[in-house]
Amino acid sequence: MPARILDGKQTAREIRGELAARVAVVRDRLGRPPGLVAVLVGDDPASALYVKNKEKAATGAGFSGEVLRLPGTTSEAELLGVVDRLNEEERVDGILVQLPLPKQIDSDRVIDRIRPEKDVDGFHPENVGLLAIGRPRFASCTPLGVVELLRRHGVETRGKRAVVLGRSNIVGKPMALLLLRKGAVGDATVTVCHSASEGLPEIVGEADLLVAAVGRPEFVKGSWIKPGAVVVDVGIHRRPDGSLCGDVAFDEAAEVASWISPVPGGVGPMTIAMLLANTVASAERRGG
Ligand code: GUN
Repeated sequence: MPARILDGKQTAREIRGELAARVAVVRDRLGRPPGLVAVLVGDDPASALYVKNKEKAATGAGFSGEVLRLPGTTSEAELLGVVDRLNEEERVDGILVQLPLPKQIDSDRVIDRIRPEKDVDGFHPENVGLLAIGRPRFASCTPLGVVELLRRHGVETRGKRAVVLGRSNIVGKPMALLLLRKGAVGDATVTVCHSASEGLPEIVGEADLLVAAVGRPEFVKGSWIKPGAVVVDVGIHRRPDGSLCGDVAFDEAAEVASWISPVPGGVGPMTIAMLLANTVASAERRGG
């Protein structure tokens, strides 16, 4: 029987609906909407599209959303100055600096400079540390979206074997930490694999839950997947014919999995919904 679909588009719509009431309370308490500012340096087309989608979602949710577009020649000192200013601005609850940054800028220094209380991306070392010790403030939006997608489809991970393909700071590592947490969608036995891992098909074959975030189109084959496994695909790639695909060979995998997230319409919309949720949470905390 083909897998059921983990519908990120519909789930994200539900979450946005729930956030509307919280946005209204913030407006009432603070006398202003939640504020999110995205900083885009340079003109990488993929980054520009991501940021535009985030801005659209933020304004659509009733936030004050703004994109600061800086030239690709911006120096590190200039960008740090912009971050300093946003850190101080009362109306700004969330700051997001789109990655990657041009090569003259050290992204670690920029992330370190964002006030942790406004770091709605969850990239600041303080927020990563809080997540690691089970006291999350802001967790990275993509892995948070994966957890929420699973939770809202009734997928349980307690005691199950989870395999995370990819060890990035944005997805793989925080994904592993979230699945390891006590409670709800957590309590899993987590394995993290990466480009140097040997015997990937065998490791993947043991997974009750597979999260693929390797950044390679259709890398995971249907034959690797354990029958009945839950498959979450974080990748998004454009094929030469213009169509989109993920890190998993979807048609093959859907024959064996019990649940699978599509690309597009799976994790992508959830990432943006979690960015909105983190920003509302930030505004609520500032409201006291
Ligand atoms: N680049 C790729 N993904 C992300 C993300 O979630 N946030 C930011 N700031 N940059 C990214």
